[in-house]
Amino acid sequence: MNAGILGLGRYLPEKVVTNADLEKIMDTSDEWIRTRTGIEERRIAGDDMDTSDMAFEAAKEAINHAGVSAEDIDLILVATVTPDRPFPSVSCMLQERLGAKKAAAMDISAACAGFMYGMITAKQFIETGAYKHILIVGVEKLSKITDWNDRNTAVLFGDGAGAAVMGPVSDGRGVLSFELGADGSGGKYLLQEGDFISMNGREVFKFAVRQMGESSLNVLEKAGLTKEDVDLLVPHQANIRIMEASRERLNLPPEKMTKTVHKYGNTSAASIPIAIVEELEAGRIKDGDLLVMVGFGGGLTWGAIALRWGK
Ligand code: UT7
Repeated sequence: MNAGILGLGRYLPEKVVTNADLEKIMDTSDEWIRTRTGIEERRIAGDDMDTSDMAFEAAKEAINHAGVSAEDIDLILVATVTPDRPFPSVSCMLQERLGAKKAAAMDISAACAGFMYGMITAKQFIETGAYKHILIVGVEKLSKITDWNDRNTAVLFGDGAGAAVMGPVSDGRGVLSFELGADGSGGKYLLQEGDFISMNGREVFKFAVRQMGESSLNVLEKAGLTKEDVDLLVPHQANIRIMEASRERLNLPPEKMTKTVHKYGNTSAASIPIAIVEELEAGRIKDGDLLVMVGFGGGLTWGAIALRWGK
């Protein structure tokens, strides 16, 4: 049995914060942010929208898109580092709000690679036949833990949610191969310290460029495929320079890489599913396409998936 994506959804807060808005509250410039990161604006959730609220909106859309009902969901996995509170988990809060009565529920802490960890956890349950429908949500309200006095980090992040329902798909479709990894010795480079995110940008940058390229190539090799087979690269949307380095490693033209970082910033675990939804809506993904998704994040963590689109 192969595990694939049956439906997707996303939620982005309405409030847009532009680089010009940030220029007014800290010592930065639109020019610096654009050239170093590719980010032009990001969405920030209001006080009335916590992590579970965004997760709920994206999850509803994914369940509808998959053509299933909440009662069909066997397991809910929520990847987040900004839960409403340490417990109950966001996944348990979602289970109640969705009315997913038979679903088990747990949160996954793997920072920006969380959606990859969620999808690969789901794949195991589906392929063994233990569970049929699994809801995975990547969601962050990073604005809660952003120090608006720290220009090194405050310009990078945005809030949002992306969700997928995974289930059994036909032969040759779905997840073909994956790689997950962690290196706790690099935990010091990107962490929450006290109330806020703290980051050594240069170290994370070097790690990301190396890992994104290697993991993408590794999943292709594991699936018996080559760079030429890739139809769409879906990298974690952290920084356009890191994304471009991954694209160049696969020798892909610009149109074969998703890009949402300019309008949403880095939404951590939400960035990969949000990017896929936008490609689908633009009609740029068709049945049989080969997608390579790849993410990295605090932990340090990383994960990549080669997926043949279709049910
Ligand atoms: O999901 C994972 C999350 N983390 C990441 O993806 C971060 C990965 N790292 C990066 O994206 C990049 O390292 C950054 C965008 C964070 C920084 O770019 P950089 O080219 O590595 O810049 P830098 O750290 O070498 O800093 C260059 C200068 C510094 O000034 P000095 O010391 O050279 O005088 C910084 O103080 O830029 C300064 N700077 C800023 N200037 C204006 C740092 N942040 C800002 C800012 N506006 N927002």
